[in-house]
Amino acid sequence: MAASTTFCALACGGTPPPRAGVSTTKQGSAAKAPVAARAEVLPSWLSLASLSALPLASAEPYPVRGHFPGRYQAVVHVSQPARDAYLEPTPERALPEGSVVAQFLTERDTGSAGPVYVMRKDTENTWLFAVLAPDGTPLDVGTLPLCARCHREAPADFMFGLPRPAGT
Ligand code: HEC
Repeated sequence: MAASTTFCALACGGTPPPRAGVSTTKQGSAAKAPVAARAEVLPSWLSLASLSALPLASAEPYPVRGHFPGRYQAVVHVSQPARDAYLEPTPERALPEGSVVAQFLTERDTGSAGPVYVMRKDTENTWLFAVLAPDGTPLDVGTLPLCARCHREAPADFMFGLPRPAGT
């Protein structure tokens, strides 16, 4: 409830989500409704096309430590105004509002596409999180406390950043 309500309050401009064909969804269970059913109200920044069009932060894929370590490698796309801060993270350096960071995972063994982990800085104090299936279907969207709990501990404005070269 809280996650979807917050998400829509922030991202849907106060417009109630259309519920075409979903007549039995109760308000209290909205957070548990399949996110795909709400796909039509997802903002354009969350589409696979716009995320993959963002500038790349790294040329080479790196092995992930945070999500399913060992299984995936990743590249990160970052919206341009945030790119410098992302590449050289320091605790004092906050990302601008509206920043979008998308981590595209691929299976290390097979190279096949995995999920896409997305963060968007909606306001100074609010990060939205999302997980997309490899085909772009949203699996989870919102202020997702599980994601936030870990990213709050990150060294720079919720960002872990790219792995540092050894010795730096
Ligand atoms: C256990 C801690 C942990 C949790 C929980 C977690 N992350 Fe991460 N995340 C990391 C770490 C560590 C990185 C750094 C890159 C890597 O090794 O994966 C990262 C990187 C990212 C990035 C790239 C930006 C950056 O920080 O460099 C995004 C986007 C992201 N995570 C989204 C999410 C989303 C969405 C969720 C919830 C579904 C989530 N994360 C949950 C630890 C976590």
